Formats: sequence, C-alpha cells, structure tokens
Amino acid sequence: MWKHALLLLSLAPAWAQLPTDAASIQAGKKAYEWHCAFCHGAGSDGFAANLVSPRLIYAPTDSSLVNIIRTGISGTGMPPALGMSETEIKQVAAYVRSLGRTAPQKVAGDATRGEALYNGKGGCTGCHMIGGSGGRMGPDLSDIGIRRAPASLRTSIVNADSVVVPGWAQVNAELSGGGKLSGVRLNEDTFSIQIRDDGGKIHSLAKSGITKLEKNAAKSTMPSYEGKLSGAEIDDIVAYLFSLRGGL
Ligand code: HEC
Ligand code: HEC
Repeated sequence: MWKHALLLLSLAPAWAQLPTDAASIQAGKKAYEWHCAFCHGAGSDGFAANLVSPRLIYAPTDSSLVNIIRTGISGTGMPPALGMSETEIKQVAAYVRSLGRTAPQKVAGDATRGEALYNGKGGCTGCHMIGGSGGRMGPDLSDIGIRRAPASLRTSIVNADSVVVPGWAQVNAELSGGGKLSGVRLNEDTFSIQIRDDGGKIHSLAKSGITKLEKNAAKSTMPSYEGKLSGAEIDDIVAYLFSLRGGL
C-alpha cells in the first residue's frame, strides 16, 4: 500500500498547474465547503490551520499544496482527500490560493503593548517558547501568526479548553501508593507513560503502578484568561501573536 503511494507520488509531475478561471475557483469553493470546511471553517475560523495566508508552511508551492490535499499531512489531523478527483483537488487548491490572496486580516489591538503584556502581566513566557526562549509547558508560538487566525487565537486565550492542541491534553493518574498526578502526556507505550506535571517536572511511570488513568482530550493545562485580562488587553496580545511569523 505504502509502496504504491510512494510510486504514485514519484510519478506525479514535479509541478502542478492550478486553474485560474472563475468557474474552476467557484467549483473549488463548493468542494472546499463539502470536504474541508468541517475543520478549516470558512478558511480562518475553523480549529485547523488558517488558510487565509499568503504563505502556507506545508505548502510553499502549488505542487506541495496539491500533494497535501491529495495525501494529507502524516502525523497531524490533516487527512488525505477522500472521493475527490484530481480535477477537484486542483480546483480546491486554486480556491485555497485565492483565499491567500485576500487582504490580510485586521486586528484591533496593538502588538507592542501585547508583547509587553505577554512577557509581563499575562505570564505567558513561563509556559511558551518564542524564538528559542521561554518555557516548555505549552506549544512553541514562534510561528503562531501563520498557524492560527486572530479569532481563534482569542478563543485559545479566553477559553483554553475550547480548542486543545492535539498532544497537549491533560491527563490525570491515580497512583497505587495513593498519590495523584496531573499534567500533559508526553509519551506512552503499553507499559509506561511519561507525564509532565503542572510544575514542569517529568515523571516516567510504570502503568502497573497506576490504578486509574484519565485522559481528558477536552481539557487544557493552560489557564483561561477570561476575567484576568481585559478585552482590550486580550486584543493587544492577539495582535502580538498574530505578528509572529517564525521569520517568514
Ligand atoms: C479532519 C480535519 C481536516 C480536514 C477535513 C481537512 N483538514 Fe487541512 N488540516 C487539518 C489540520 C489539523 C491541519 C494542521 C496540520 C498541522 O499544522 O499540524 C491542516 C493543514 C492543512 C494545510 C496546511 C496549512 C499550512 O499552513 O501549511 C492545508 C493547505 C490544508 N490543511 C488544506 C485542506 C483542504 C484543502 C482540505 C479539504 C480538501 C482539508 N485541508 C481538509 C485538518 C483538516
Ligand atoms: C500553565 C502554562 C500556560 C500558560 C501560563 C499559558 N499557556 Fe498557552 N498553552 C498552554 C498549553 C499546555 C497549551 C496547549 C493546550 C491548548 O491548546 O490549550 C497552550 C496553548 C496556547 C495557544 C494555542 C497554541 C497552538 O499551537 O495552537 C496559544 C495561542 C496560547 N496558548 C497562548 C497563550 C498566551 C497568550 C498566554 C498568556 C496570556 C498563555 N498561553 C499562557 C499552556 C500555557
């Protein structure tokens, strides 16, 4: 199966010519609404990657965009296209590129004030890394402005549980000695699990020593900032995060 997939990939032309006429882009939009909007929303308001961007991390070229749509991105929540013809795939790709050509989204806040809040009052540096400095208790935010749209950044800050980044959900373990441990699951196999506790310490536990293991995919270890930061302060932090483009 894999061999066939690789063979097909290697036989595919090295570049893809996307249609540019309005009818194809309109057809692409229809197919997008059917196959993609479920996760990507109208392009920038879904939980998955923000596609309203002139640069897509995984799809710098039209050929890589077509490939991603055809085969998905392994190890992520981006699935391969199911039941789509090559023509439809190219039409959807053309539509995605047209999204990227729309004017950049406007943000209400001030990025400079937002940076100060991020580093100060917000206390975000303790958990997040930007450009190599900060904590490791949450995802690296160096290119978050490409990966997420302003509205969904805001949601993450106000209510962290509403979109939990895969791999960062909370786990709770009850230990046979009577203790309890909660944090983020780093690694797991049949016999053991590694948990980083809320203080940042990494624990390797044998499963035989755990009486109850609760994995809560809908619970984030990030605190919610509703009420702790004002609406205007959150706007400023969103403006700062949206400006982070990983050097792109
Ligand atoms: C089941 C949910 C889901 C569906 C359906 C889905 N995607 Fe995705 N897609 C994702 C996720 C999650 C990512 C982010 C992967 C990552 O960054 O880890 C992603 C990433 C992408 C990327 C890369 C973005 C970047 O910044 O490089 C493109 C392009 C994309 N999707 C296009 C599409 C298109 C077009 C469709 C419909 C044919 C589609 N996706 C259907 C979940 C989905
Ligand atoms: C106690 C640690 C902690 C603190 C403090 C914290 N976060 Fe988080 N953050 C996390 C974790 C863990 C996740 C991943 C789980 C999730 O999606 O909620 C996360 C996720 C995020 C995401 C989504 C990242 C992505 O890859 O999509 C953003 C944006 C974010 N945090 C911003 C902030 C901002 C801004 C602050 C400060 C106002 C902050 N965080 C404070 C732990 C923290």
